[in-house]
This record gives sequence, C-alpha cells and structure tokens, in this order.
Amino acid sequence: MTTGIKPAAREAIHVFLEENRKFPPPASFQSQAWVKDESIYERADKDPEGYWAHWAGELDWFKPWTKVLEWKAPYAQWFLGGKLNASVNCVDRHLKGPRKNKTAILWEGEPGDTRSLTYEELSREVNRFANVLKKLGVRKGDRVTLYLPMIPELAIALLASARIGAVHSVIFGGFSAESLRDRINDAQAKILITANRGWRRGKPVALKEAADEALKAAPSIEKVVVVKRGDHPIEFKPGRDLWWHELMKEVSDQCEPEPMESEDLLFILYTSGTTGKPKGIVHTTGGYLTGVYATTKWVFDLKENDIYWCTADIGWVTGHSYVVYGPLANGATVVMYEGAPDWPEKNRFWKLIEKYKVTIFYTAPTAIRAFMKWGDEFPKRSDLSSLRLLGTVGEPINPEAWMWYHEKIGGGRCPVVDTWWQTETGMIMITPLPGVTTLKPGSATKPFPGVSAEVLNEAGETVSVGGGYAALTKPWPAMLRTIFNDSKRYEEEYWLKWKGKAYFTGDGAKRDDEGYFWFLGRVDDVLNVAGHRIGTMEVESALVDHPAVAEAAVVGKSHEIKGQALAAFVTVKEGTAPTPELAQKLKDHVAKKIGVIARPDDIIFSADLPKTRSGKIMRRLLRDIAEGKTLGDTTTLADPQVVARLKDQYEEKEG
Ligand code: PRX
Repeated sequence: MTTGIKPAAREAIHVFLEENRKFPPPASFQSQAWVKDESIYERADKDPEGYWAHWAGELDWFKPWTKVLEWKAPYAQWFLGGKLNASVNCVDRHLKGPRKNKTAILWEGEPGDTRSLTYEELSREVNRFANVLKKLGVRKGDRVTLYLPMIPELAIALLASARIGAVHSVIFGGFSAESLRDRINDAQAKILITANRGWRRGKPVALKEAADEALKAAPSIEKVVVVKRGDHPIEFKPGRDLWWHELMKEVSDQCEPEPMESEDLLFILYTSGTTGKPKGIVHTTGGYLTGVYATTKWVFDLKENDIYWCTADIGWVTGHSYVVYGPLANGATVVMYEGAPDWPEKNRFWKLIEKYKVTIFYTAPTAIRAFMKWGDEFPKRSDLSSLRLLGTVGEPINPEAWMWYHEKIGGGRCPVVDTWWQTETGMIMITPLPGVTTLKPGSATKPFPGVSAEVLNEAGETVSVGGGYAALTKPWPAMLRTIFNDSKRYEEEYWLKWKGKAYFTGDGAKRDDEGYFWFLGRVDDVLNVAGHRIGTMEVESALVDHPAVAEAAVVGKSHEIKGQALAAFVTVKEGTAPTPELAQKLKDHVAKKIGVIARPDDIIFSADLPKTRSGKIMRRLLRDIAEGKTLGDTTTLADPQVVARLKDQYEEKEG
C-alpha cells in the first residue's frame, strides 16, 4: 500500500493516533470487576510490603513467614521463614469445597482427542506422579527435565515435581536435541520426562528421538519417563526408559507434600541472553506463587465461572505462570490445546473458543497478526460471544493488530490487556487492570499495583516523558533470584548498568505524558521472533560451527507476522562456493543446533562483514541493510566499500 506520505511523517501520524486513541473500561465490565477504582495504586505504593503480604496471605502456608522482604541488592528474599508447597496451593486447597468437582483442565489434542480433569482427578494424578518420582529416587532439590508436548501430563509433572520439592526445568518441544542436552547438563538433571511423540500440523514431533540423541552426552540422567501419546514406535532402552502409564499403576494416589521454605527453588527456566550460552533463570516458591496468583486474579479479572485459555506452550514462562501456577492457584478452569492454530483449518482457535465457551483468551501478537492476514471469515464462522476479556503477551502489539483483535475477536466489548513481562520477572509487570485502566492500543499502560517501573536514561536518571530503557526500580515477589550456577552473570546482566539501583530489562520504552509505557523492543542482542526469544550470538555460534562458515553476523529485521525475523550475514571459508544449496544447508544446520524456532529467514553471503578498525562487527549497519534503511555513519569502518557492496547485493536479492 502506498499512501504517498514519507515514512517518517507516517510514523509521526501513527504516534499521534496511537497516543490519542483511548478505550475506557466498558461500564458493564467495570461494575463487576475485582478492581474498580484507582486508589489501589496509591495504597500499594505507600506500603508495597504490606500489600504483597496481603496477597501472600491468600495462599495456604504450612508456617507463616516472619519477614516479608529482605533486600540485599541485587538479591531478594520474600516471605522469609514461611513454609508452603506450590502443588498444595494449586490443587489440595481446592478440594475442601465445591471446587473439588470443578474442571481444572479442559484439554484438546491436535487430532481432536480430548480429556478433562476435575481438581480431584488432577490431585490424584499429581499425587501419583509425585510418588513415581520418589520411587525413581528423586529427592528435594534434585532437577527434573521435561521435554513434552502440550498434554495434561506436562502440567501434572510440574505439580508433582513441586510436590516433592524437586526443581523442574521445562524445555520447549521446538528445541533441538543439542539444546536439550546442553540444558540437561547445565541443570545436572536426574530424570527426563518426554513422550513418544507430539503432534504439530498433522505430523509427529519426534521428541523421544531427540531425547535419545541428547542423552548420548547427558550422563546425569538416570531414568527417562515416556508418556505414550498414541501408537508411535520408538526405541526403548531397557533399564533406562520407563512408560509413564505403567509407573502410574504401581503407586498410591496419596503423597505427603514437602513443606518448602519460601525461598526454596521451584523451577529453572532457560532463556536466551546476549551471549551464546542460554541462562537458567531461577524462580523460588513463595514470592513467585504470590506474584502469579495476584496478577492472574486482577489482570484477567478471573472469576469462579470463567473458562480461561492462555495459548502459550508450557515450555515458555507464559505457560508456567499463566497456564499452570497462576490460574490453578486461583482454582480456575484452564483450557489447554496441543497443536497449531491453523490445523486442520485456520479457524481452530475460534472453534475451540466456541466449543469450550472460553471467557478469557490470552495469546501473542504474532498469532493475532497471522489471524488478521488469514482473514475475517475464519473468526466469523464461530460464535465468540462467550469472550469477555482478551490479553496479549510476548512482544509489542502494533495498534492495527490491537484494533483488529478488539473488534473482530472481542466484538468491541472486551477489554484487551497488553501485558509486559519477562521470563526473569516471573509475573506480569506492566499491564492494564481491565476494570480501571483506559486502554491505548499499542501501550502496555502502567505498572501493576505494587510494581515499581520507570523509564531511565543511560545515566540512570528518570525520564518522565520520552524514551529510554525500561527499568524496574524495586524488588518484586516473583523476580528471578539468580541465574543457575552463575550469579556473576546475574549481577552483570541485570544490575551492573545502574550499580544495583534498578533492574535492567533489556527493553527500550517511552513514556507518554500520562505516564503510559510504550515498549519499543529489545535494545540488546536478543531478538523476538514470533514471540520467541532468541540470542543473536547463539545463532552465530551455530553458524560458525558449520565447516563451510568462516564468520557470521545475525540481525533482526522487521517481519509482518513474526514481528522480527532472522537475517544472517555469512562469510564462507576459502574454496567454498556460496550457493543457494549451502544457504539451505546452513538454515537446516541452525535448526539442528538450536531448534526450528531459530532457523534464519535469510542467509546473505558476503566476502566481508563491516567491521570497525578494532575488528568489531557493526551490526547496526547490517540491521540497516536488512531493513532497507539509509545507511548511517560508515566513517568508522575499516573498509567502507564492504557495506556498499553488501547493500547492493541485498537489494538485488530482495528484488
Ligand atoms: O522484549 C520484551 C518482550 O519479550 C521479552 C521477554 O521475553 P520472554 O522472557 O521470552 O518472555 C515472554 C513472555 C513474558 C521482553 O523483554 N515482551 C514481552 N511482553 C511484551 C513484550 N514487549 C512488548 N510488549 C509486551 N506486552
């Protein structure tokens, strides 16, 4: 589409429109919402510890805490002296009243098979599997790695591991054998739980094969528990591999929960950073559970009769916090779906919403942009009138996608909560409260009550109106405690920038004159591809691992649906021909090393990469080339000709 307006002018008009398009909460929503007025922000601000302690008091504790917060920057401890168990809070406590027979999980597999579990049934499964883990020798503090499709067993295994005090580490099923191996080794996990297959767009996902490959060099694993998902033949290693369903037959459905210290580890979740090595983000029990419990209740305005569906895979933090722990701690009915949104047709999500009468729907902007592209006819085929609230997470949502979501999915009546947070924050941090906040499409709005966030400049000074870095200025209960086995990296990556005074999020943001936050994407070498976080260094290491590659630089470029896509600039070794076949091979190589989610869209061969005189690759210029922008300053380059050549080559390729 050409409008005849220059891009810069168009952007300025957009900014104006974005900041001035406002949606106050609909009266009918507001009147029934948990939070109806803004006074809570001030009250929480005056006494954050008292406020968070109030939330923690809504959980079940074996022993009350004696101190709410101990903050020795950058290390926080919440609810010291308190003892609790996450599985008790997500399951047992609902068995005392009418929730006992309430549906906890409504699951649908991609082929259309279904399963539903009441809280009582979930409790039996969790207790059984907790006993299985114990029988396999798992003790408090041991690590358990999960590499599973989106099936109920994944949620069950999480809760079972929490029940006995084991630390779970879930690896998303889209990661490769090598990624799985590295993460098992980093965590020194004792047990691996996987499945004979998963389903994705009608095809098997070969999880067990990848697990076998990973285990060739992951000696800490003693046993592999395999869930049988249909009749898919796999190799079974006697003595090491065990079937989930057989183990479950042999154990009782009663397992005493381990009383955990508030600060005992609940899980490790690996995420990408600015180096080639993923980091194991550490979350503990009491604070994490308090944070996800509170945010689930207020951000989604969750009520007893809601049918809640968060489409995230449990392999990511969104699945941990808002498929499992947050909603189950609230006693919600949670929809879980295994497969792709476009299988067997592009209306699968809408069919599920109609079928299960979903009232709260939480998904990613990348999915919304794909739905928009597929066309309105797909949602139109289903009755979506059960919906009352919509949410998004994972990346900035462009106002056009927000408006489409609001109108075509929400029928113009559902508030849209754009929630900003991270694997590290554990819980939603910046978000509307749907009964209070006037929404502006494209803005995640304001910090959740009790959360302190600001935009800071390089020097750490507050930017009241304008752009800078998003920063978190006070500890919050669900914050990461450290990076597993690497506290130095924890201190350096998140706290060094402002000398322990604020947490560096890695995100650029601006604040408007009403204090709203507008997130602008990452400012470090982390990319966000279809809502998946990928480190450029990881992809570069995977590329240079290939024998044909001498050097590689990976940058993000805008992508209509995925938000960002990967463009890799590659220099091949002498004597190697830079052919289209090689480009294909390199893409496959990255998929094999990291996983399909990291496969670059473009491989651009180049005889040289633009470098400063000190030899540093100038990624900024490569980004400009990939985005087709006018090139910035090239005077610091060792060989300015390199970029000119690359730019010509890239433009030729893009045609
Ligand atoms: O850049 C921000 C983006 O996703 C990053 C965190 O990624 P991850 O740890 O994988 O967690 C994703 C799910 C919580 C952030 O640093 N991000 C997340 N939510 C938003 C967002 N960017 C803009 N708006 C959001 N609502």
